[in-house]
Amino acid sequence: MTLRVDVLTLFPEAIAHYATTSVLGRASQRDVWALHVHDFRDATSDAHRTVDDTPFGGGAGMVLRAEPILDTLVAHPEIARPLIALTPSGRPFTHDVAKELSSLSGFSLLCGRYEGIDQRVLDLEVDDEISLGDYVLAGGELAALCVIEAVVRLLPGALGNDHSSADESFSDGLLEYPQYTKPAVVRDLEVPEILRSGDHARIERWRRAQALRRTLDRRPDLIARRGGLNGEETAILVEFALVDENRQNG
Ligand code: ADE
Repeated sequence: MTLRVDVLTLFPEAIAHYATTSVLGRASQRDVWALHVHDFRDATSDAHRTVDDTPFGGGAGMVLRAEPILDTLVAHPEIARPLIALTPSGRPFTHDVAKELSSLSGFSLLCGRYEGIDQRVLDLEVDDEISLGDYVLAGGELAALCVIEAVVRLLPGALGNDHSSADESFSDGLLEYPQYTKPAVVRDLEVPEILRSGDHARIERWRRAQALRRTLDRRPDLIARRGGLNGEETAILVEFALVDENRQNG
């Protein structure tokens, strides 16, 4: 099944350009997903094609007007639902949200600009709001592309047959273990011996220990969310001498 993604934006070329490049471009050629971009400036009727206006109540900046966005939705009833607005006030975007979206047949992304979107668009038509993080971008376009890329690469066939998104950061709630490629020595730094040992079971345990250690050090919140370390995980850290008495968790 092809995932349908509609994007409502004032910068259709920026979205289309990135979405036809690299992994996203190849995946759409393989019909893993299909992009439909809508420039809501096309729905304006005044001579200046105005999409924004000053905020009621005063204050700095401009607000995106409701009508061009609402009219775009009326003119294109085929636009996929849910309609998700990209705003800093939305729910935080995570791997779990990406997985949730990858299980749908389609969704739409509304990119804000300026100081925000007229609240009536959100009240009337928007089903969900997503934020990329606690910072403010100039608009939702980069956020929309991040969401699309994180979602599409989870879809079967998106990465080609010999790649998998199942064995990477966050897939089991942990950060990824360190990776190395040739040559075996770079500026006196050697690839860990175990990775060249050919002992695949031990390599798998070492990678798991590394992922656990790294997540404990960098993102203890992720370990806490999984309910802490279980006995097997503690044992694997001990096996590779990665338990540090001075460290807080494990
Ligand atoms: N638009 C502006 N800032 C944003 C953010 N942090 N996440 C999503 N969309 C945004």
